[in-house]
Amino acid sequence: LARGLEELTFAPGVGDVLQGRLPPVAFVPTMGALHAGHATLIERAAAAMRRVKGGTVVVSIFVNPTQFGPGEDLERYPRTLEADLKLCREAGADVVFAPSVRDMYPDEHLHPGGIATTVRVGGPLTNTLEGAHRPNHFDGVATVVLKLLNMVRPAFAFFGEKDWQQLAVVRTMANDLNLPYLIESVPTVRDADGLALSSRNRYLSPEQRKTAAELPAALFAARDAIEAGAVPADVERTLADRLTAAGFAVDYAAVRCPTTLRLPPEWPPFSVRILVAAKLGGTRLIDNVAATQR
Ligand code: PAJ
Repeated sequence: LARGLEELTFAPGVGDVLQGRLPPVAFVPTMGALHAGHATLIERAAAAMRRVKGGTVVVSIFVNPTQFGPGEDLERYPRTLEADLKLCREAGADVVFAPSVRDMYPDEHLHPGGIATTVRVGGPLTNTLEGAHRPNHFDGVATVVLKLLNMVRPAFAFFGEKDWQQLAVVRTMANDLNLPYLIESVPTVRDADGLALSSRNRYLSPEQRKTAAELPAALFAARDAIEAGAVPADVERTLADRLTAAGFAVDYAAVRCPTTLRLPPEWPPFSVRILVAAKLGGTRLIDNVAATQR
């Protein structure tokens, strides 16, 4: 028992797998329209499972309506199931779980929205940045992620750093609610010109796609400025101005504590995350990068 508890403290999913309470499953939740970023998550999950007897890689594909706000792109979100299945197979997935909206939110006649329970991670983690621009977004994310985790019951679940705030919210939920699943993160996968891969990149016109490379370029310049000793407030302003000059409508350009997303504490030295969201025409892009000032 002592050994079990020790394992549970450090690695809940691993402890449960070793003790036969959770199946050796690695899980990658997605909304489909899969690209090489998703493939990397699946490959990482497959690599972890190759070392385990009976190891299984599960990918979910579900465009979750509750995390989209009014006027967002729920209806036009790309749905490419056949191509997604091929990518999953090639990346090493064993099972694809693609539930319907009715499967996930069944009781429309009893509860508006189909279920009565919402998981809300509170505080600055969800009311700043993405949370400030997309009210209730993270309620939808936390609730569907917890539902999916409990349906799949994986030892490990893989999330991308591309959605840094989402990763922080999921990690916090897992800690706060003592979820027996290990949350793993995977660095952002980028195109050759630096643009982070995203299902939404396919909304960009060829012209906009060229301009979009300014986003990672400005972000990397901001990282270099922080690492050379610049003050966060100045870096935020320079980053926002550069993107505005390039034709973006900037939602936020922020230098924050990586785990709490609050303003960075005493510095230097400090490690921060630089996060941006900006629209190019009708397409909203987000990205982030780590920076450490010594
Ligand atoms: P989706 O946007 O499809 O992303 C699924 C996972 O892939 C997320 O963990 C995301 O961070 C990761 N990802 C996307 N682009 C990436 C890139 N370029 N490099 C690395 N990882 C990348 O995020 C969601 O779906 C949903 O909110 C979900 C968690 C499935 C809940 O509905």
